[in-house]
Amino acid sequence: MMKAKTWVIAKLFDGEPTESNFRLIEEEVPSPKQGEFVCEALYLSVSPYESSSDKAPLGSALMGHQVSRVTDTKNSEYPVGTLIQCYSGWRSRSLINPKENPEALKLLKVPNLAGKEPSLALGVMGIPGVTAYRGLLEVCEPKAGDTVLVSGAAGAVGSVVGQIAKIKGCKVIGFGGSKEKCDWLKSLGFDHVFNYKEVNLDDALTSAAPNGVDCFFDSVGGEVSCRVLQHMNDLGRVCVSGAMSSYNYGDKQPLMPSPFHACLYKRLKIQGFSVSSCDARFEESRTQIFKWMNEDKVKYKEEVQEGFEKMPKAFLTALKGKVAGKIIVKV
Ligand SMILES: NC(=O)c1ccc[n+]([C@@H]2O[C@H](COP(=O)([O-])OP(=O)(O)OC[C@H]3O[C@@H](n4cnc5c(N)ncnc54)[C@H](OP(=O)(O)O)[C@@H]3O)[C@@H](O)[C@H]2O)c1
Repeated sequence: MMKAKTWVIAKLFDGEPTESNFRLIEEEVPSPKQGEFVCEALYLSVSPYESSSDKAPLGSALMGHQVSRVTDTKNSEYPVGTLIQCYSGWRSRSLINPKENPEALKLLKVPNLAGKEPSLALGVMGIPGVTAYRGLLEVCEPKAGDTVLVSGAAGAVGSVVGQIAKIKGCKVIGFGGSKEKCDWLKSLGFDHVFNYKEVNLDDALTSAAPNGVDCFFDSVGGEVSCRVLQHMNDLGRVCVSGAMSSYNYGDKQPLMPSPFHACLYKRLKIQGFSVSSCDARFEESRTQIFKWMNEDKVKYKEEVQEGFEKMPKAFLTALKGKVAGKIIVKV
């Protein structure tokens, strides 16, 4: 029997959480039985959508992905030293049985990253990267010459969406929430970048997309997204990949303007996307992303905070959307 440190929900979120919503406890981790293994967290993902308190009842562990190393095993497919990514939550150590509920654990081996940090499996080489790739291609179906708009563009997903849209020959417009984020997006090759909090969106979109927007990859939702729909071309395609503006409202969602008017008159395709629907193409997708990374066509940014104790602080930073790229906690 070993011990693990685990962050649990001390108080359900009611609006924006604070550090008092989290508590660090010790849990016992049993020794592995046949087919099981124990792994120790190396890097943990903190993101508002993985770890909102509606995903975990009071007293239970915050959820989220991590990259961890197998340290004790009774499963020959996962020898000691194997690097995995799993959905173990904010735990320093976990017992895993790949046969029991592997879907919920979202267990994968970290691919060979040719010496790059395994933390990439939580960002550009993981769920955010594959979401960007598959969501853009399958829902937005971008063609060379199309104008693609990306909200939450400086996030882990949006930054990859914009770069892949550039690879596909599109004109790319990105929304970022600060000057630092907008500068970074420019350096990635986005054609037009706006701090959507500061500009008049109609003016900005009229100047950046005088012929309209063909594809909209949306991670945010709410009023800004409804405004974008007004600038879309007939038969435009919208990938609804996230709803950052409305997480943590729970059942107190604010009323939003309706997107249906624009949808009807412009004959838009507005489709939700979930990366879990493309498990079969996950490895193929990240192989392609890795190739682009090595060709310097896809770049990424990681903000690494050190120390398992920093999890709530890092999460609150992610929630405020202050940092460009992917926020990771290194244990
Ligand atoms: N569909 C899927 O399968 C799938 C898989 C993974 C992730 N996602 C979704 O993709 C979205 C982005 O994920 P990510 O990993 O890129 O997240 P991220 O790195 O945390 O970036 C999200 C960005 O959204 C922006 N944002 C706009 N309004 C916000 C608000 N009210 N609160 C907080 N942030 C706000 C922030 O940037 P600015 O301040 O610059 O706007 C923030 O940096 C999430 O909504 C997530 O649910 C979907």
